[in-house]
Amino acid sequence: MTDIAERKTSHLRLCAEQDVEHRGTTLLEEVRLLHDATPELSLDDIDLSAEILGRRLQAPLLVSGMSGGTPEAGELNRALATVAQKCGLGFGVGSQRAMLLRPETAQSYRVRDVAPDVLLLGNVGVVQAREAGVARVAELVTAIGADALCVHLNAAQELVQDEGDRDFRGALDAVGALVDGLSVPVIVKETGCGLGPRTLSRLRALGVPWVDVSGAGGTSWTAVESMRGTERQRALGSDLRDWGIPTAAAIVYARREGLGTIASGGIRSGLDAARALALGADAVSLALPLLRAYAGGGLDAALAEAGRLVEGLRAVVLLTGSRRPADLGSAPRVVGPVLRAWLE
Ligand SMILES: Cc1cc2nc3c(=O)[nH]c(=O)nc-3n(C[C@H](O)[C@H](O)[C@H](O)COP(=O)(O)O)c2cc1C
Repeated sequence: MTDIAERKTSHLRLCAEQDVEHRGTTLLEEVRLLHDATPELSLDDIDLSAEILGRRLQAPLLVSGMSGGTPEAGELNRALATVAQKCGLGFGVGSQRAMLLRPETAQSYRVRDVAPDVLLLGNVGVVQAREAGVARVAELVTAIGADALCVHLNAAQELVQDEGDRDFRGALDAVGALVDGLSVPVIVKETGCGLGPRTLSRLRALGVPWVDVSGAGGTSWTAVESMRGTERQRALGSDLRDWGIPTAAAIVYARREGLGTIASGGIRSGLDAARALALGADAVSLALPLLRAYAGGGLDAALAEAGRLVEGLRAVVLLTGSRRPADLGSAPRVVGPVLRAWLE
């Protein structure tokens, strides 16, 4: 196995089996939506459908990019893409870095035969995009029939990894070149440390249309890396386990910049999803819960997990007296003091 394939296999196993989440929270629990005891709605009146990046979803939920590059990772992609197709959700593949180095791994990222209608997101790291250039990144998008490309930022994880990148210069130029040169929209995405106001304002100036805030409170990549590698890697990963901007704060920062906003990082229930949408997110995305459901019980368990999330979201939309997810933006709420401090 190559180094990248070995790392991906070890990451998938650690995430499925170990305690890899931030110890701090998303701060979504500080958004208390007011209960409406007389909603005057039938559950059948609730319409969760939403148009995101040109595709109509049955609910504004996506499966975050995790996988690809090995046969096992390809199976995971196909299973979770099948879930997205059946439930009308969006789906992202994991980093296509392996495809840049070994084009024969493309098959492990291809899901269009099982998921012809899903909103499909490609994925590449900003450092790899900077090195590969726009034309090769465009090939990654067309090779899998993606509707948009996630460009992921993961400086904290790279610094922890013994073999990680150390030079993050030129990232903004690389993003700008992709925004100008690709025929599909670019989504700039963190990987569990969140996006803050300074980064978001730079991204908006480059014409980036969408972000996935991937904030702190869910999967922590510094925690994952603290479970492998040398003593140095383990120590730094553990010290930085909780580094990052909580998801709830990052959602509000992204909306303040007027960017299309996908909320991820620690979304674990339909209630979390509703709170993220109430803060202004257009859609919500999850990684770890679907990985774990699939690892524990295969396709049926992943389908059940997606069903649980949709049912929970539908219930909260009704219980706030809303009809559609977009109405949650004006649902009455009480916001706790810690989140308010992040937003000042
Ligand atoms: C096993 C696993 C692999 C991941 N691989 C990638 C990746 O290749 N590219 C990427 O942008 N994000 C990757 N992520 C990050 C997720 O897309 C997401 O942003 C992050 O895990 C926060 O969501 P969560 O708390 O629901 O897991 C991965 C997450 C997991 C759990």
